[in-house]
Amino acid sequence: MKILTAVSPLFVLLLVISVPTVAQNPVAGDQALGTKTYDQFAKPEFCGTSCHIDFYQQWRQAMMSQAYTHAWDEIEYFKLAVPHADIDPKVAGVKAGCNGCHTPMAFLAGDVPPPKPEANSRANESVFCDVCHTVTGYAGDVPHNFNFVSDPGTVKYGPREGAKSPAHETRKSEFLTTADFCGTCHNEKDPYGIWVKSTHLEWKEGPYAKEGVPCQHCHMTFAPGRSAAMAPEQPDVAQHLFHGAHDNGKVRGTIELRVHPDVRQAEPGERVKFTVALFNQKTGHKFPTGSAEERLVWLHVEATDAKGTVYQLRVDRKGFAGEDYTIGANTLAYQDMGIPLHLPDFKGIQRDGIPEGDRIFRLPYLDPQGRMTIQQWNTASLGPDYRIGPRETKLETYTWSLPANLPSGPVVVKATLNYQKLPRPLVEFLGVPAEEADIVEVNSHSTTITIL
Ligand code: HEC
Ligand code: HEC
Ligand code: HEC
Ligand code: HEC
Repeated sequence: MKILTAVSPLFVLLLVISVPTVAQNPVAGDQALGTKTYDQFAKPEFCGTSCHIDFYQQWRQAMMSQAYTHAWDEIEYFKLAVPHADIDPKVAGVKAGCNGCHTPMAFLAGDVPPPKPEANSRANESVFCDVCHTVTGYAGDVPHNFNFVSDPGTVKYGPREGAKSPAHETRKSEFLTTADFCGTCHNEKDPYGIWVKSTHLEWKEGPYAKEGVPCQHCHMTFAPGRSAAMAPEQPDVAQHLFHGAHDNGKVRGTIELRVHPDVRQAEPGERVKFTVALFNQKTGHKFPTGSAEERLVWLHVEATDAKGTVYQLRVDRKGFAGEDYTIGANTLAYQDMGIPLHLPDFKGIQRDGIPEGDRIFRLPYLDPQGRMTIQQWNTASLGPDYRIGPRETKLETYTWSLPANLPSGPVVVKATLNYQKLPRPLVEFLGVPAEEADIVEVNSHSTTITIL
């Protein structure tokens, strides 16, 4: 007995030591910094000029090709994240880490920080062909924080067996066709251990994962054609669309709306309750998702009386903890931008920039002092997750005390769901191109009551 108990821990220890050297434990995530060189990767022009012309042109107009150069990315990285990393040791890692997803080749080459976009360096290639097509898998249990395993070289991984190319070897990779592949960049845990981006995790707990519908089915849709100029026809070639928040057509119609009153006829002074049903028919994750710290989705309800006077209706409170974050208000936020901007005692700027009293579907990110932030790397906790899940229906009510002077005749009540990538006060304050605050109408619906 004694001998056995003495031996078995040693045996276990030996096993533990030998496992990592034998199989896996590939270098990925933070550990991969500086483990490759720029010239190990083929340029997107090499792939796209004579062979993969359509994919190249699709990619060029997707955000993937601008993940490093897009104006708002440049501003957030160079004006906020880098100076913040230099001041606060807790977030020092983001100076390199942002690029693990936004320009993986520069990260793998150990270029920290990479030259600014205006220098036109290879960092500008962002998330390009050879980054994705040389990934062999991911390290760890949960795909997140660029924990993909990169193996650049002559072998390109793709979804099909037996693809022949004059330019490189090809090998089939199941992994590329999974949502886990996308999750390596579309899940992010910040230095405080908070999930600040969780598109893949939201998908995984929703209906589409259960039905076997990965990200590719909605963002890289399949069509008959050729995957390269010299390739044979296939019935299902993956289109490199990667369309999302920057494609208004993708956003429009995501949520269906219906509004109805509790009575059809009423007299001035009475109260009428309008209920809006919002059904998420389109997204495979929550809406909004991804950079949820800065996305605004809000429900505006307006009544127009028989004489054309317009009244804004305010959402009824439900009474959940943190609900104030989900109702448009005249209040200040984002005070922690004062750290990187060197503005001590910065009072913040307007939180929403939308009508007060409108319902907002959002996930508030809170800094270590509990104030709302868009600096996702400085998020120490989250507020209530009041976004609309895949195939979820939410009901909102707007109770209206009819004004005493309301003229008789029809009143049309219209519910409109709006979407904005970045709140307007932030766009103005940080000098981000105005189009990032363009309002997209997701959907609208109207109903009518009669005033007696
Ligand atoms: C059933 C279809 C569907 C599936 C599956 C799906 N999406 Fe989406 N996705 C959408 C739609 C529609 C939008 C546009 C509305 C929006 O912005 O959420 C979108 C938006 C996005 C955005 C932009 C979000 C933003 O605010 O910038 C990203 C990023 C994204 N999807 C990534 C993914 C990833 C990663 C997966 C898999 C884990 C995935 N999607 C699965 C339909 C889908
Ligand atoms: C963000 C990662 C990513 C980027 C960037 C990317 N691809 Fe892909 N590509 C994929 C995935 C994922 C698939 C497989 C999708 C599936 O079948 O589910 C794919 C499929 C392909 C295929 C095979 C298509 C088929 O259906 O047979 C080719 C060829 C290809 N990509 C070339 C390119 C080229 C060229 C570029 C650059 C212009 C590029 N890819 C950029 C992820 C990427
Ligand atoms: C190497 C990291 C990486 C991988 C892998 C990756 N993405 Fe992305 N993706 C990004 C980054 C970074 C952005 C943000 C671009 C920007 O700065 O707006 C992005 C943006 C997007 C968007 C939003 C575009 C918009 O209009 O706002 C969609 C949709 C998307 N990715 C889908 C996918 C899908 C589907 C996969 C898997 C097939 C995938 N991504 C794999 C890094 C990645
Ligand atoms: C784990 C991967 C990952 C890391 C690390 C990461 N990002 Fe991103 N980032 C993404 C993806 C994916 C998107 C696209 C999500 C979406 O469309 O909402 C994105 C979107 C963005 C956007 C664009 C939002 C918009 O409005 O389109 C900005 C700006 C940004 N990131 C900046 C940063 C900065 C600064 C850092 C470092 C502090 C960082 N990111 C770290 C993956 C990452």
